[in-house]
Amino acid sequence: MKDLKPNIDSLDPIEVASRDEIGAMQLQRMKKSLREAYENVPFYRKNFDDAGIHPGDLENLSDLANFPFTVKSDLRDNYPFGMFAVPREKIARLHASSGTTGKPTVVAYTKNDLDMWSDLMARSIRAAGGKPGNIAHVAYGYGLFTGGLGAHYGAERLGCTVVPVSGGMTERQVNLITDFKPEIICVTPSYMLAILDEFIRQGIDPRSCSLDVGVFGAEPWTNAMRHDIEQAFDMHAVDIYGMSEIIGPGVAAECVETKDGLHIWEDHFYPEVINPHTGELVEDGEKGELVFTSLTKEAFPIIRYRTRDLTRLLPGTARSMRRMEKITGRSDDMIILRGVNVFPTQIEEQLLRVDGLSPHYQIELSRAGRLDAMTVKVEVNNSSSSQAQRDALANELADNIKGMVGVSAAIDVGEPGAIDRSAGKAVRVVDNREKS
Ligand code: DLL
Repeated sequence: MKDLKPNIDSLDPIEVASRDEIGAMQLQRMKKSLREAYENVPFYRKNFDDAGIHPGDLENLSDLANFPFTVKSDLRDNYPFGMFAVPREKIARLHASSGTTGKPTVVAYTKNDLDMWSDLMARSIRAAGGKPGNIAHVAYGYGLFTGGLGAHYGAERLGCTVVPVSGGMTERQVNLITDFKPEIICVTPSYMLAILDEFIRQGIDPRSCSLDVGVFGAEPWTNAMRHDIEQAFDMHAVDIYGMSEIIGPGVAAECVETKDGLHIWEDHFYPEVINPHTGELVEDGEKGELVFTSLTKEAFPIIRYRTRDLTRLLPGTARSMRRMEKITGRSDDMIILRGVNVFPTQIEEQLLRVDGLSPHYQIELSRAGRLDAMTVKVEVNNSSSSQAQRDALANELADNIKGMVGVSAAIDVGEPGAIDRSAGKAVRVVDNREKS
């Protein structure tokens, strides 16, 4: 793998500023952001008034903890444009989350917001090892989803040649990578695995392709998956985090030189971690639910937004800004199986330890009588393997899961290709339990 560490002179000065400088900037920006939200968004005015708090009460960054949370249903209740802080004519772009049930969540950007987002995505791609002059293949979906356009504008801002492929048509993805020879790919890690399968199907050695780095996010993925992708492609695999409600991709990003968690771009987003049950702040280093407050957004300020993503805050390393540990999962995705909490990422870790199974998987939950049951659907690597070999692989995985995660799972070993591939975020859990 190439040494992609960016030159220190190419960084934004604030990336390596002192904690005091960062804190002073945050406080000044936080005061303004709270004031603008209060003055311009009726929801925030009411929410703060009901809690008996006023933007002028914030004297220190820690005073933010006295302000009320914002949750997803608040955005739904104000659908479509009720959370916006500027007149509609000042809004340059809308994005929306798909929303599996009910109405989508709509988010808005002024021209300045788009500029800030592009800068942060350029910073994130540079942290991943991207350089001006590189070719960037963007296989995140384009459209209302923020992945495609977010990566697109960021790569352009960095000075890359952008190939706006979007997700899907996997054969064409491989053709374009082979012909255009991009150094950078921006894509979900699960779709990267589908692209890997296609390289192999076409008889092309993925290690011989031009890619130096993948900027992977939009879904949870493990360090075990990082290792597999890096080995398969002889490239760096770096994590990027974001959420439409906060801005889109580029809220936090990993640095290629350390790959030790994602630096939160704290000059624009203030992180807190809370106990999801009590709403109390936890200390840095303790795990809980991530909460974000935007510091500079104009069209859609967001105050103490509960992301439902579980992680912990860690001190800065390659950059001064704090890191968040790779996300374990969303609290919504946590499976409670006979009293044990299980995240799909824990199953992924165990699956990747078994030679002979591919990294594609899906977890199916069912209820037999009064008891919940979990089936992990996986695939063999080699279609000519015998039934006895498949049984042995299933036993090995079941033992790993029982030993390391502490739950019993049935393993369903299918043919290569048996698990549905998604061109974006993978669906890891199918819940067939009757809702009681
Ligand atoms: O997924 C934005 C994005 C696009 C991030 C491309 C990175 C790359 P949403 O569709 O609003 O936005 O989904 C946000 O996806 O709350 C997490 O649960 C999950 N997520 C995003 N990035 C990561 C990551 C985009 N690196 C939701 N690791 C978030 C784990 C992630 N989960």
